[in-house]
Amino acid sequence: MKSLIQRMPKAELHLHIEGTLEPELMFEFASRNRVALTYKSPEEVRKAYEFSDLQSFLDIYYEGTRVMIRDRDFHDLARAYLNKAHEQNVRHAEVFFDPQAHTERGVPMQAIIEGLHHAFREGEREFGISSALILCFLRHLSAAAAMQTLEAALPYREYFSGVGLDSSERGHPPEKFTAVFARARQEGLFVVAHAGEEGPPDYVWQALDALQASRIDHGVRCMEDPALVARLRSERVPLTVCPLSNVKLRVFDRIEDHNLKQLLDAGLCVTINSDDPAYFGGYINENFLAIHNAFGFTKDELHTLAGNSFEAAFLPEERKRLILQELDQL
Ligand code: ADE
Ligand code: ZN
Repeated sequence: MKSLIQRMPKAELHLHIEGTLEPELMFEFASRNRVALTYKSPEEVRKAYEFSDLQSFLDIYYEGTRVMIRDRDFHDLARAYLNKAHEQNVRHAEVFFDPQAHTERGVPMQAIIEGLHHAFREGEREFGISSALILCFLRHLSAAAAMQTLEAALPYREYFSGVGLDSSERGHPPEKFTAVFARARQEGLFVVAHAGEEGPPDYVWQALDALQASRIDHGVRCMEDPALVARLRSERVPLTVCPLSNVKLRVFDRIEDHNLKQLLDAGLCVTINSDDPAYFGGYINENFLAIHNAFGFTKDELHTLAGNSFEAAFLPEERKRLILQELDQL
């Protein structure tokens, strides 16, 4: 099955580019930008990656972003991810970035967006990986700050395709961001949102109704609300599930306790993703392998999961059809 997982064409729909910062690259950026790190070596950094919940991870994740300062850093970060994605047969990536984690430190919006954009264009040219950038608002910051961030990004509108909502979920309901998401939709941006990772099912309802999200990131807590499951199923709202992340952040104690099988059995459009692979111990194939080992998924089930990732992607129908045809031939 490992070889099938490798060979399946896949779309990655839940990946934070800042979460692909491997410790070695963190040291390289820190050195060239003269940023002091509290750790002495990449090994020491890796040892610190033990998390008790989402917030304990975010504290370290934002600390890591301090080494990213110039457009070249964003470019090189994305290039490193693209090499990995190509190795793992990812054909399409819809990638989150957190501008506020950088603009708050004085990094210009232009450096962030242009650095990422150029790398993803190279990925398209060199590897044939199509991509879309998704600008995420940090939900622990204010709605006004989110609106300012969108306005600051709009001069680069052609370089990103969607907006999302991430960071500390508990106590920060999606409704707080209704106005900025309405503004984003006016600009023709697609809408996704993290909800139901640590937060209650009500946050998933809010993401659907107040923000009009067309996809839910994580969403695993939907299972606590049968009416919500029925809605997600009937509207075929995709969930971008991140199994290794959910275990690392203690949403589930062990991979065997993950509710992925229940989500699939409920008829939901589930996709498999890596979230913050440099922090959670694996990229997309390692996530597929972990769930295969835990649940003994059959070839058909693995195909369904890979197929769902293209169904859920914002891609032209013709490209979806060609890739799905390739998947069917495996
Ligand atoms: N930012 C990066 N990874 C995240 C996650 N899993 N949940 C919320 N915000 C995030
Ligand atoms: Zn995430």
